[in-house]
Amino acid sequence: MPELDDLRATEYAHLGDEVYLDYTGAGVYAQAQLHAHRERLAGRAYGNPHSENPASVASTELVESARRAVLRFLNADPDEYAVIFTANATGACRLVGEAYPFGRRRGLVMTSDNHNSVNGIREFARRARARRRYVPLTPPELRIPDASIGTALRGRGLFAFPAQSNFTGVRHPLRWVDRARRAGYDVLLDVAAYLSVNDLDLSAVTPDFVPISWYKVLGYPTGVGSLVARREALARLRRPWFAGGTIAAVSVGTEWHQLAPDETAFEDGTLNFLSIPDVEFGLEWLTKIGRERVRSRVGELTGLLLDRLAAMRHGNGTPMVRVYGPAGTRDRGGTIAFNLLAPDGRIVDERLVAAEAAAGGVSLRTGCFCNPGAGEGAFAIGRGQLRGSSRWGLRTIDEYLERIGLPSGGAIRVSFGVASTHGDVHRLLDFLTATYRDRRADTTGLAPRVRC
Ligand SMILES: Cc1ncc(COP(=O)(O)O)c(C=O)c1O
Repeated sequence: MPELDDLRATEYAHLGDEVYLDYTGAGVYAQAQLHAHRERLAGRAYGNPHSENPASVASTELVESARRAVLRFLNADPDEYAVIFTANATGACRLVGEAYPFGRRRGLVMTSDNHNSVNGIREFARRARARRRYVPLTPPELRIPDASIGTALRGRGLFAFPAQSNFTGVRHPLRWVDRARRAGYDVLLDVAAYLSVNDLDLSAVTPDFVPISWYKVLGYPTGVGSLVARREALARLRRPWFAGGTIAAVSVGTEWHQLAPDETAFEDGTLNFLSIPDVEFGLEWLTKIGRERVRSRVGELTGLLLDRLAAMRHGNGTPMVRVYGPAGTRDRGGTIAFNLLAPDGRIVDERLVAAEAAAGGVSLRTGCFCNPGAGEGAFAIGRGQLRGSSRWGLRTIDEYLERIGLPSGGAIRVSFGVASTHGDVHRLLDFLTATYRDRRADTTGLAPRVRC
């Protein structure tokens, strides 16, 4: 396999001159992945799986092969773990939330820096009148001490946390999985932002539920995710309905149904059978490139950017950047959240940066990244400020920000991945220096925010 910089110029040449820094949003696919998809589809006909006709059998075989490939990638024992194909990580979280036996004796514990697709599980818990508890983040690194996890894990229920925060890049300790399970909890480990660069070994760390979006890991295909789940934990879930593809038998006359005895009981309707095989190819591709090589490149670029951001100064000597989360590379991934500061210390509105970065060919992300808890931690918004917020009758995120007195609606996020280069870091730094050094925080003419 060629050097990473050579791959950028060949397999990832479609990035062109763009400085792509949103790998936590979506990975970038290689040309080889597109060719493999085209060749497969051009080679024969593929039909709706689970029938005896040849086109159907061809699809079924490839889907089952992809299931095995996912288990191999995660070093999971097929007797212990099942792979359920979903549309994305969000779909995987919903499968767990809607079927988990929440109740007075089974509550929900979550770290405060979950993605909204995990936060939303609390609505299922609320409906079942189950206890909900958030474990707060500790500044300045926005991590969580082990002791707080120990305190939160009283009782029983579901414990949900991200292996890596999609806001700060913090990697939480995977030892919490075992600790929570020993305390009587089922564990949902969200690896959506973690898996693109880091490995998960399900023979060493044994969460009950693992949501994944494959486009974040592989760049392509979109519309395919997985819930990787311990078979034993799956058996405790109670599906709220059945659908095509999920049942062993069903009757209309007696309103009786029997769900399929395996993971297909959780796969609603026809699977994305033309794209699921691309997951297998993508995983082989990443393995061939070398996971360790990409990990080490991403770590190097993250360290370089963190150091340079911390050193950026205006002419009057004041810092140009405030980073949220860890200042170093220990136990953190290649995601960096920050705000730019004006010479008087005020935050430069992230909407301005979004527009100007786009015009400069830099793909970064701004806002709260669907992770309001990390945002509240970053901007030090306490529970007191939020008390009664459900009764404020606010309609827009701008009204909300004004009410709680926040200087900014969100942060700027850059993240690295398989095709990132030193050139990307230098072009970002050049853009930030040229555009924001000694510049006032001017908010005139900015469009209203549409979402958090
Ligand atoms: C940590 C984390 N969890 C879950 C999700 C949800 O992923 P999707 O929107 O693909 O379902 C994301 C997406 O950004 C994420 O970063």
